[in-house]
Amino acid sequence: MGSSQESQLRVEPLHPTFACEIHGLDLSNGITDKEFEQLQKAVHQYGVVVVRKANLPDDHAHVDFSRRFGEVEKSKYRNPHMRSLPCPEIFDISNLDEKGEVVTHSNEKRTTAIRGNALWHADGSFNPRRTYVSCLRAVDIPPKSMGGHTEYADARQAYEDLSEEKKAKIKDLVAIHSFYHNRKTANPDSPLFKDINVMDMPLARHKLVPIHHPTGRPMLYVTSYAHHIEGMAIEEGQTLLRELSDHAKQPIYVFEHHWESPGDLAIWDNTAVLHRATSGDYEGKHRRDMRRTCVMDSSPDAYGLNDPDLAKNQASSS
Ligand code: OGA
Ligand code: MN
Repeated sequence: MGSSQESQLRVEPLHPTFACEIHGLDLSNGITDKEFEQLQKAVHQYGVVVVRKANLPDDHAHVDFSRRFGEVEKSKYRNPHMRSLPCPEIFDISNLDEKGEVVTHSNEKRTTAIRGNALWHADGSFNPRRTYVSCLRAVDIPPKSMGGHTEYADARQAYEDLSEEKKAKIKDLVAIHSFYHNRKTANPDSPLFKDINVMDMPLARHKLVPIHHPTGRPMLYVTSYAHHIEGMAIEEGQTLLRELSDHAKQPIYVFEHHWESPGDLAIWDNTAVLHRATSGDYEGKHRRDMRRTCVMDSSPDAYGLNDPDLAKNQASSS
């Protein structure tokens, strides 16, 4: 790391308004300062950066690489229904159970989480301190044409395209987020979540239209964790959230990333874009071993309107 070698990476846009692929970056021996500077600039400008065959050799290298962006989140607890991986900073996004076998429909704890991940979201929006960058690495991917793609939505462009009236109406609003709102929405009949009242669970307050600080562009932070709007009747707030979310996930704002090879890496800025997993024919049959790190936000909106002390014990997940 930190070599003075001059290198210019090639940036190829993947969508008319956001998302790019960076060519010429091999992370098997770390990343130089010069390369990192270009990479971070692309993450800020494009919101999503794809690196094909990035070749991070293992979980430790994945965590070390992620540290270049800032403080890496640690998973506070080990889920007994998931594999035990060596680094607490690695979130297991796979479809594998604790024995490393493909999850089937009878595994309620895991399938409810997988369904939750298929709703549009920004990682960590339910936490008092939200997430900045996520780095998702493919270790094992399903056969081509069996699905398992990741979708991204350009939430800055979506805000920009709203009418001036709508912008004025929403720009100072605050949304109340809960991890359980996403899970309940995705799994309305699951006994795991049916009796949970979101309002009794930990809640996080974040601006509905935070500024993406590196570019100064506002973003629609309409994640599936957002339960209602502060100061508005619950239903009225939920109607507004649904309307804005429907707007942001229109096809013109969406880029679908297809994983091609083990070693592929996607890096995105959760303070600029939304994302979701998609289902596919591979489910219940083929391995999809994806591992993720999350870097905590340090921008002026990192803690939203929450007490920063609450973030000390935040239980990260999903
Ligand atoms: C994530 C995520 C989507 C996917 O890792 O945060 O939402 O396609 N992943 O696995
Ligand atoms: Mn996610």
